[in-house]
Amino acid sequence: MHLTKEEEKMLEGENGYAVQKSMQILTALGDIYGAEKMIEVSSVQIAGVSYHNLGDAGLEFLNELSKDGRVKVLTTLNPAGMDLEEWRNLGISEEFAEKQNLVIEAFRKMGILISCTCTPYLIGNLPRYGEHIAWAESSAVTFANSVIGAMTNREGGPSALAAAFVGKTPMYDFHLEKNRIPDIHVEVKTELKKFSDWGALGYCIGNRASNKIPYITGIKTATPDELKSFCASVVTYGSKPLFYIKGITPGSEKQKLPKEKIVIDEKDIEDAYNKINDDNEDIDFIFMGCPHASIKEISQIAEKLKGKKISPKVEFWVATSRPTKQLSDDRGYTKIIKDAGGKFACDTCVAVAPLKGRFQSLGTVSAKACYYSRGHNLMKTKLGSLEECINAAVTGKWK
Ligand code: F3S
Repeated sequence: MHLTKEEEKMLEGENGYAVQKSMQILTALGDIYGAEKMIEVSSVQIAGVSYHNLGDAGLEFLNELSKDGRVKVLTTLNPAGMDLEEWRNLGISEEFAEKQNLVIEAFRKMGILISCTCTPYLIGNLPRYGEHIAWAESSAVTFANSVIGAMTNREGGPSALAAAFVGKTPMYDFHLEKNRIPDIHVEVKTELKKFSDWGALGYCIGNRASNKIPYITGIKTATPDELKSFCASVVTYGSKPLFYIKGITPGSEKQKLPKEKIVIDEKDIEDAYNKINDDNEDIDFIFMGCPHASIKEISQIAEKLKGKKISPKVEFWVATSRPTKQLSDDRGYTKIIKDAGGKFACDTCVAVAPLKGRFQSLGTVSAKACYYSRGHNLMKTKLGSLEECINAAVTGKWK
């Protein structure tokens, strides 16, 4: 990979330890993937924030980098392992909280915004069409590439952090137009009737399109929340963090219909529910906000929960970013949800909080939450509509 004089100096250590380490990571990546040069990025999203995943080795690595590492561009953080303020309320131990706070302090020292959300685009880290960025967090990467039309690879925690310290990333894969051409036509021949159908559709396309970029036809409308949920699901069950929906996502009008074609019909959606859902009836955990809930989603939850009481056998969490929670407080949604017995889980989520063994069976509107709850936390899972989730929260049963 060609390096400028300035980049050479960074690699030689003239700009300090963190920048040198970062350049070593980025040039190694560039060489592996055949990048010709580095390209400036306008923002970074960092994943690998939970102490649950980092452990002491990860914390030590961050502390080392935080001695002289300072970010050069707008840099936001993915969810941490706990609500940074109300962690006690979510049953997090003192020991865990102490370590998690050390992780957060290291990031703060680096100049990173302590946003702790997987929807940075809802709270101010919003790139424009065609802008180069370096984001980690698969759902956010897919949203950025597909719904916004920005250009990013699916970064890992270390490579995203390295890009933040250098302000650049190697130019390969999704930073090049030639690698963003769809190669499979997906015709959706069924109506998506409820919100969770978007997660089920993501399951179907992710599984069947696998390592190809889908060009999806047959969908007439989509809300930002539906697209957000679809992004999380399609990349979780498949692999490529980029898709086009004809007439809905930017750039779809420029692309040609790929020759290879698959069809998704009602039966496929039904099968997806059958694969995602276990056969249990009892529910002890309802998790909303995967990806982190928007203010509109919170308002819908509050509307459905108003005047109801959540069963004492069920924990009901709404995960969101702290600024969105602030809006929810101001509009009175938080009070309605808390009065019903629900809890807010700001800054964190079902995949990165230490939840293994605490809950047996999850109900949710998110196919991605099902994937991680089953795979990482060994819970039984139920994917369904908001109404089904609220009903299960009140009765403790999935019907
Ligand atoms: Fe976000 Fe966690 Fe879901 S990072 S997309 S809430 S698994």
